Amino acid sequence: MSLDNLIDGRAIAKEVHTETELRVSGLKAVGIEPGLIFIRVGEDPASQVYVGMKERTAMKLGIRSQTVVLPNETPESELLDLVKQFNGDDTVHGILVQAPLPSHIDETKVFSTVSPEKDVDGFNPINVGKLMLGEKGGFVPCTPGGVHELLIRSGVIIEGAEVAILGRGNIVGKPMAAILCQKEPNANATATICHSRTLDVKRHCRSADIIVAAMGVPQFVKADMVKPGATVIDVGVNRIEDSSEEKGYRLIGDVDFEAVKNVAGKITPNPGGVGPMTIAMLMRNTVLAAEQQNGEGKISI
Ligand code: GUN
Repeated sequence: MSLDNLIDGRAIAKEVHTETELRVSGLKAVGIEPGLIFIRVGEDPASQVYVGMKERTAMKLGIRSQTVVLPNETPESELLDLVKQFNGDDTVHGILVQAPLPSHIDETKVFSTVSPEKDVDGFNPINVGKLMLGEKGGFVPCTPGGVHELLIRSGVIIEGAEVAILGRGNIVGKPMAAILCQKEPNANATATICHSRTLDVKRHCRSADIIVAAMGVPQFVKADMVKPGATVIDVGVNRIEDSSEEKGYRLIGDVDFEAVKNVAGKITPNPGGVGPMTIAMLMRNTVLAAEQQNGEGKISI
């Protein structure tokens, strides 16, 4: 595989950021400063890192952001009250409650409480429903939205493609399938969701033109599971203990990159593939939220 076959998520995220910055300037020109709230509950180390990265990117793009950190024992009702408070705050255009939440809190209830207009994660059932229905104007979840954008901007043919999605989670797998099978340009794919009870995952992968690996199993996708020339997108972020690393762990994806890169037509590195796009889509959703709440632009992407 030549370097040409690498899908550079950092470079594509930069392109999206440039577009977002322009829209931020447009909003500021009419006196609107996009505002984004992050809520984090507990001290999950990965969530601390992710929210920190999102906050820094927001600042760079001129989006005002604030992170509220609540203790792990916070009652569910207190978190719901906080979300409702931000729902009613006109200076806040987007609200993101970082998952995973402590086990005593019902994640679905929390996501349902975020006002659909401020739901930049796209997890409120109204936005989930709009995506399923193919309705415009809703928010598309950031990770599958970012994968879609990566595929489009790197020239992968989606129309008519067979796509194997590994993982049936609400954050990636299910919305990914909904995005790719829409009756729309840059969609019209045949998407198959494989999961832990799928009888022959390898068979589905071998016949796929595009594989999206999002099941959270380190290096699950091996070279012999990939059709030569297929596009392979690695969404996985797995922490593996490694005493040789200063932090005591390292992060690896769901794809055996070193082996698969020799078979794939296009492949995302990991890190540097999907991760930066998730953040880019969050920023774009926030600007869209600010535009829609102020009747500006009403751009539907
Ligand atoms: N945890 C992992 N991915 C996500 C995401 O996209 N949004 C939120 N809120 N939490 C996450």
